[in-house]
Amino acid sequence: VSAEAGPKDALELHGSRILIGTGLLDECGAEVRAALPRRRLAIITDETVAPLYAARLAAACGAPAPPAFTIPAGEPSKTRKQWSRLTDELLAAGFGRDSAILALGGGVVGDLAGFVAATYMRGIPVVQLPTTLLAMIDAAIGGKTGVNTKAGKNLVGAFHHPSLVIADPRALRTLPVAHVRNGLAEAIKHGVIASPADFVWLATNVAAIVREGGPGDEIAERLVRRNVQLKSDIVARDAREAGVRKILNFGHTIGHAVESLGGYGMPHGECVAIGMVVEARIAAKAGIGDPGLADVIAQVLRDAALPVALPSAMTPDAVLAATRSDKKARGGSVEYALPAKLGVMAGAERGFGIPVPDSVVLRVLAESS
Ligand SMILES: NC(=O)c1ccc[n+]([C@@H]2O[C@H](COP(=O)([O-])OP(=O)(O)OC[C@H]3O[C@@H](n4cnc5c(N)ncnc54)[C@H](O)[C@@H]3O)[C@@H](O)[C@H]2O)c1
Ligand SMILES: [Zn+2]
Repeated sequence: VSAEAGPKDALELHGSRILIGTGLLDECGAEVRAALPRRRLAIITDETVAPLYAARLAAACGAPAPPAFTIPAGEPSKTRKQWSRLTDELLAAGFGRDSAILALGGGVVGDLAGFVAATYMRGIPVVQLPTTLLAMIDAAIGGKTGVNTKAGKNLVGAFHHPSLVIADPRALRTLPVAHVRNGLAEAIKHGVIASPADFVWLATNVAAIVREGGPGDEIAERLVRRNVQLKSDIVARDAREAGVRKILNFGHTIGHAVESLGGYGMPHGECVAIGMVVEARIAAKAGIGDPGLADVIAQVLRDAALPVALPSAMTPDAVLAATRSDKKARGGSVEYALPAKLGVMAGAERGFGIPVPDSVVLRVLAESS
């Protein structure tokens, strides 16, 4: 298992290739067919992405053109109800064990269609074709699929590694800036946890990334390629989240608490932005992190028009309580993934999960409103 640049500039993770290229959505037919020999293909996408890209993908795949199965756009579609509907429709259309799914869309489509593929006929291949920045650099990489339930997000799912990932950074041209920003929060996270050079590049290019109409081709491609590399390098070292993969949770312990207290009305990237600043301060206050790092992170986030302070309605006590109900809290003790300094995470010797006393968390939260 490796995540190295290989022939034709492809990355690889768990045996599946990750292709990144401007214009690929129109030119990926041969790659898709080669990855899924003799398979009957079905596109799963959402109502916003379908009119933009589904016909183009189908045309790229050639005859027989894969039909598109469509869900309403947005997080409320990531349910067992949509999973039932899609699997029923595939069954009704006669898709058998020899089929494969093309997941075309953001993380919602990727997670749901991936879960359909993981379970349909006990598992058929999936090709992920992410069209949001978040999906390209995060959701499509790592093999996690699933749906939300009333009890919480992503509580029912499966690991199902895609046979191929195809990311066309040009798709970001049609993506609303708010969603670019949402993905950018994860890119900034990747810089903090693993790569000072990429953090600096992001800091320098923030305005060119969050501009109306999307980033230009060169910046979009570099943004996607570097962040896919960073995430897949981490995942490759840790297939089941036993150790180093935990560093990807930086900003997410507080971030998830804020997200849940806000009734999931705030975009994930905004919650993670706040979470990264708070957690970098927690690291400093706990005496394990560079005291200047939180401000450095906050500056880039501000330049991206991402929030850096807790919403005023959220009290420190409420945020602390919400961290305890996070599914990653084991046995009541909440563990954090904390940066020692830019590009280096603390706690390698204990699997990167660092318990922090409530008093420290509360003090930092009180200073972060
Ligand atoms: N599996 C994982 O490891 C993982 C990691 C991170 C996030 N996720 C999941 O990803 C989901 C969020 O993903 P998301 O932010 O991509 O949301 P999303 O899939 O809802 O996409 C955001 C919006 O953008 C639209 N859209 C997508 N591509 C577009 C394009 N190119 N042009 C115009 N509009 C476009 C969509 O229709 C949607 O309205 C969450 O459910 C989250 O749990 C999964
Ligand atoms: Zn995230």
